[in-house]
Amino acid sequence: MMKNYIDIAYLVAAVLFIYGLKGLTSPATARRGNQLAALGMLIAVIATLLIAKVLTPIEMIGGLVLGGAIGALLSKRVAMTGMPELVAAFNGFGGLASALVASAELYRYLGPDQASTLAIEPMSISSMVTIALSVLIGSITFSGSFVAFGKLSERISGNPISFPGMRFLTLLFAVVTVGGAVYMSMGASEFPGISVPVLYALGAVAVASLILGILLVVPIGGADMPVVVALLNSYSGMAAAATGFVLDNTALIVSGALVGASGVILTNIMCEGMNRSLLNVLIGGFGGDSGGAGASTFSTEGKSVTATSADDVAILLTYAEKVIIVPGYGMAVAQAQHQVRELADLLIEKGVDVKFAIHPVAGRMPGHMNVLLAEANVPYDLLYEMDDINGEFDSTDVSLIIGANDVVNPAARHDTASPIYGMPILNVDYSRNVIFMKRSMRPGYSGIDNELFFGDNTRMLFGDAKDSLTALISEVKAS
Ligand code: TAP
Repeated sequence: MMKNYIDIAYLVAAVLFIYGLKGLTSPATARRGNQLAALGMLIAVIATLLIAKVLTPIEMIGGLVLGGAIGALLSKRVAMTGMPELVAAFNGFGGLASALVASAELYRYLGPDQASTLAIEPMSISSMVTIALSVLIGSITFSGSFVAFGKLSERISGNPISFPGMRFLTLLFAVVTVGGAVYMSMGASEFPGISVPVLYALGAVAVASLILGILLVVPIGGADMPVVVALLNSYSGMAAAATGFVLDNTALIVSGALVGASGVILTNIMCEGMNRSLLNVLIGGFGGDSGGAGASTFSTEGKSVTATSADDVAILLTYAEKVIIVPGYGMAVAQAQHQVRELADLLIEKGVDVKFAIHPVAGRMPGHMNVLLAEANVPYDLLYEMDDINGEFDSTDVSLIIGANDVVNPAARHDTASPIYGMPILNVDYSRNVIFMKRSMRPGYSGIDNELFFGDNTRMLFGDAKDSLTALISEVKAS
């Protein structure tokens, strides 16, 4: 009877996860989607604790309150620019949890006389295979995610790290990992229970997978870490799903599969947005400490940029009929989203048609710009995705680029030698005037120069985006 109630609770949780994911497809419903998925997880956790009866009600409530408090504190304290590293750490712990739970399940099959070579309970091959998979994927996810965390938080160098013989070593540990997992699986069929050598094989799989996770991620540049984090996110889902099979827990299988599948889809979207293959990211294309090692074929010799001031830009904006604002990573660094909103409001009040153009990989994480602009309450109907707005730039008076660079670099369209060639971009160069708000002539993530800085219709408003916007707002108010 109890089992039926638990199954119903798991079903409700699974439905809430799916509705939650659907809600995340639009900024307007994202908050609600998140709440639905969190409610689903709460139901699944309580149902599991009730059926497993491993904790007293007081311990359950204590755990929920403690976990909830840590989550709430972290979400308040972590800056939006630090979100990818927080996700990396969460993935890592998810992978570790899956590996530990699966290992504990194997340990449970040992007889009371653990020193003997044979245990008393039989175990099926499928259970052993899923335990081996959980430990393998979970351990790779754990160590790989913490290397990504270290690179993103600059605790370790963001430069690709490699040494002679690294590929051979990676192969060696991959063979040990797979060999250990196969040995474990054979152990299930050969013995009525679990033998001690199988436990050693489990240890070997865990240690080799941990080293493998490090070896796979250290050669990748720091700037490519968001893609790696999305991939590891998918791995953590797969590890959780495998653990769900080990424990015969439907909620874990469903949620793990959803995380695994959405992680793969997200990885794919990010690679497409950059026009790079996953293989290119994994073997290390560009992306070091300073944002990239891509070789630029662009020469600035004999070219000059036109610097401008806040009062000139204010005049241009107030006389414009149509302005498109293009936010990028610099807006996130400057935390200038509230000033962006204020400026947009002022211009709209003055009768200017204002729209926001959102590139799919602007910033450093999927939906980075949407999240920031939503935080500043910019109305969703002002946000346009790249394909929906690209046709409008040639009828636009001013494109105001706030801390964006690569996503508007025309080299992606025509320079076949450029590392970003083929990446879809926002066609800001088709508009009548282009204003870049950034601090210097430094390149962005890909490490390449932007020819648009030198365009005839381009003006540079140098300075921190928040400071420049504050100055611009007072000029527009005064005009
Ligand atoms: P970027 O090309 O990285 O350019 C950001 C610009 O912001 C820099 O040129 C920088 O110039 C400026 N900036 C930094 N801090 C600033 C501040 N405080 N005030 C004003 N400007 C500031 O950014 P983007 O155009 O958004 O492109 C994103 C890049 O990241 C793409 O190449 C994309 O492929 C890559 N990427 C994205 C993702 C996702 S999922 N979004 C994941 C991985 C990689 P200054 O230093 O001169 O100020």
